[in-house]
Amino acid sequence: MNAVHCQQIEKSFGSGETEVKVLRGVDFTAHQGEMTFLVGPSGCGKTTLISIIAGLLGSDSGSVELFGESIASLSSREQILFRRRHLGFVFQQYNLLPSLTAAENAAVPLFAAGMNRKAAVAKAADLLDRLGIGHRAHALPRLLSGGQQQRVALARALVHEPRLIICDEPTAALDHKSGESVMELLSNSAVHPDRAVIVVTHDNRVFHFAHRIAHMDDGVITHTESSAPTAATH
Ligand SMILES: Nc1ncnc2c1ncn2[C@@H]1O[C@H](COP(=O)(O)OP(=O)(O)OP(=O)(O)O)[C@@H](O)[C@H]1O
Ligand SMILES: [Mg+2]
Repeated sequence: MNAVHCQQIEKSFGSGETEVKVLRGVDFTAHQGEMTFLVGPSGCGKTTLISIIAGLLGSDSGSVELFGESIASLSSREQILFRRRHLGFVFQQYNLLPSLTAAENAAVPLFAAGMNRKAAVAKAADLLDRLGIGHRAHALPRLLSGGQQQRVALARALVHEPRLIICDEPTAALDHKSGESVMELLSNSAVHPDRAVIVVTHDNRVFHFAHRIAHMDDGVITHTESSAPTAATH
């Protein structure tokens, strides 16, 4: 079974003369137990595609299956529950809630799952510690650097141990060493046989973590290469 299977996804923004066709029939697969990279030039449609996979955006046509389940066949409530339980998403712009501390932001998926607030914040703070920012757990996002906010966003995507983790440029604001440790954490999540990680990135310093690299250009996947990760397993 594939973690993600997309067929012929199309998506346009705008209408009439201002319509822009962003996805032009995308076929994309991410396998369980693997870290799949999605790479391609700015504006080619990467964020649009992963937003559709994550159910944050609707497509105009085509199908998305997650772990063998056709998302379109679920009711909107079932889709929300599926996302909440099985999906972790790191946004390109982090999207942290400004009035919550770092640890509270990272604990949001646990709050949503009904976990006791104190236990949830403690679990999230522990993960922030492993990401090297435990000392900032009680700071508000506006007091954090870009790289620190990025790690809080990553913790929020990982904290509930979802089956599918999707990250949009997770190392963009990080130095090389922090970027490597973030990728290590992600690849450890991906080695579970029933989980998968998708990473959008321009950062060729971390390409060696990929099991598979899907190349996108102008709204289509042009080719996919499999690759043996050199530092992804321990
Ligand atoms: N909500 C929107 N309304 C109109 N146009 C949009 C919208 N979202 C994206 N686009 C357009 O769709 C195209 C693809 O955008 P997308 O964000 O998917 O690219 P990307 O590959 O993620 O780029 P980058 O690497 O710069 O993040 C761009 O031309 C963008 O301007
Ligand atoms: Mg993008």
